[in-house]
Amino acid sequence: METLELEQLNALLEAESHSIANLANASSFLYNTIDHLNWLGFYLLEGDTLILGPFQGKVACTRIPVGKGVCGKAVALKKTLRVDDVHQFADHIACDSASKSEIVVPLIQNGEVIGVLDVDSPMLSRFTIEDQQYLEEAARIIEKHI
Ligand code: SME
Repeated sequence: METLELEQLNALLEAESHSIANLANASSFLYNTIDHLNWLGFYLLEGDTLILGPFQGKVACTRIPVGKGVCGKAVALKKTLRVDDVHQFADHIACDSASKSEIVVPLIQNGEVIGVLDVDSPMLSRFTIEDQQYLEEAARIIEKHI
């Protein structure tokens, strides 16, 4: 099932070469194929600031400094952060008060972080290690098409 979805994502993105179009469709594809989410989208790194990119969900903060929030920390550490309860994460930036758990996967090109895939859920501990692996595979596909 999930392998099929990743193949579909790859086929969807392969058909287009524009980054914004592909990030927009990737956000819709993932948001609509994963259960119990309230926000899914991208932040793109410009200098030392993450800028809001294509997403699904309610309006969100537009700029996040590297090192701040779950997104900025994932960039600084260059690794996926999976947070079971965002209210226990000291530096969490609350964009949508419905969010209870979150996973942030860095997007990497040529060894450098270029942005993040940020996924929020209204359920506590929504994201398992399997979800992390799935979203990391999705990120590897997305990086190739933006
Ligand atoms: N919660 C994120 C901010 C982005 S929103 O979830 C869309 C963070 O702490 O970095």
